Amino acid sequence: MNDSKDSYNTLTHNRFTKEVLQCARTPFYCYDLGLLHATVLEIKRQTAGMNCIVHYALKANENKRIISEIARMGLGADLVSGGEIQAAIDAGYNPQDMSYSGVGKTDWEIRLGLELELGCFNVESSAELEVINQIAGEMGRQARIAIRVNPDIDAHTHRYITTGTADNKFGITLDMLPQVVRQAIDLPHIQLLGLHFHIGSQITAMRPYQMLCDMVNQLIDEYENEGIRFEQINVGGGLGINYEQPDEQPIPNFEQYFGTFRQGLKLRPYQRLHFELGRAIVGQCGTLITRVTYVKESRAKRFVILDAGMNDLVRPALYGACHKIQNLSAPDDLPMARCDVVGPVCESSDVFAKDYPLPITRRGDLIAIRSAGAYGESMASSYNMRPLPQAVFFNHL
Ligand code: LLP
Repeated sequence: MNDSKDSYNTLTHNRFTKEVLQCARTPFYCYDLGLLHATVLEIKRQTAGMNCIVHYALKANENKRIISEIARMGLGADLVSGGEIQAAIDAGYNPQDMSYSGVGKTDWEIRLGLELELGCFNVESSAELEVINQIAGEMGRQARIAIRVNPDIDAHTHRYITTGTADNKFGITLDMLPQVVRQAIDLPHIQLLGLHFHIGSQITAMRPYQMLCDMVNQLIDEYENEGIRFEQINVGGGLGINYEQPDEQPIPNFEQYFGTFRQGLKLRPYQRLHFELGRAIVGQCGTLITRVTYVKESRAKRFVILDAGMNDLVRPALYGACHKIQNLSAPDDLPMARCDVVGPVCESSDVFAKDYPLPITRRGDLIAIRSAGAYGESMASSYNMRPLPQAVFFNHL
């Protein structure tokens, strides 16, 4: 076991102090910066001595304070739009440590990336490669790129967040790869750095990553035999978090995750490994705090109606995701009752949990929806003209 994890566990009780809870109008996101720091430190500990860089996938949480804290701790950035590129620059990430992915990069976004001399464009199609080459030529630049490979590995996660199988839009399938590698080598304004992979998100088993390692090794060998050396190998992100018991595992098992690649990959000394983690970095440090507006009893059901809705946290409605829900106002010894925990938005899918056991809950009680630091605030919308949720920060350590 590692020390940072142990010392953190002892501090997670009563984590929502009165001051924090009273400082914003509900619903709001509450971020534990101490946990964020401990998480990044653990990543640094587990990657020490590896020839690698970890990029933070901004899409998981684009809150300015969060992205700046992560930049300050020295991670790179993984970006998917011009807006994210700009946000990463403003937050202080080094352009050299930025990688830029996405199947639909537009011309202005490509220009912006070239102007800023981003570390790497992760290219997803032959058509995109042509356009990047042309724009780079016009600008008198060389574009550094990696080819995103679709390795056809099923990460056994939700179908909306699986990205590495042959029937989805991401990356270049293995049968097309030789052709696109050749194209990249031949284009005059393209500098081919390496290969990029990302097999999906919320992956908790190591098997899909081991399969990825095998595939990467095979490709490195094959291309090396043809005299092509990839100096950059990017294995993407996707490491999952424990949504059921966030306090049991506030920091993901990075030892196992990075160990899988350390053992599984046969990298050459000239090859640098890149990771792009989002959820595993920010997921557990965020909680959505909301208040019970009404408790509604019907013959068959008890509904707990919150002042947070699917516009604030869309994951349950969009993916059927289950986040742990706690009543922060109820004393521990209250009897439990099953209820549907729902939001106020005019959609039947605006449900956080069905038949969920909560202590007897009343109007005005404060509710915590846990593990909401990733893809919570960044996916929030103002649907129904609801104001966007605010964010507050606290620091245990
Ligand atoms: N790299 C690439 C190319 C990606 O597409 C993604 C996420 C990541 C890295 C970071 O993945 P992470 O380490 O966070 O799993 N909204 C969904 C997740 C969508 C993930 C999209 N791509 C959710 O709430 O579960």
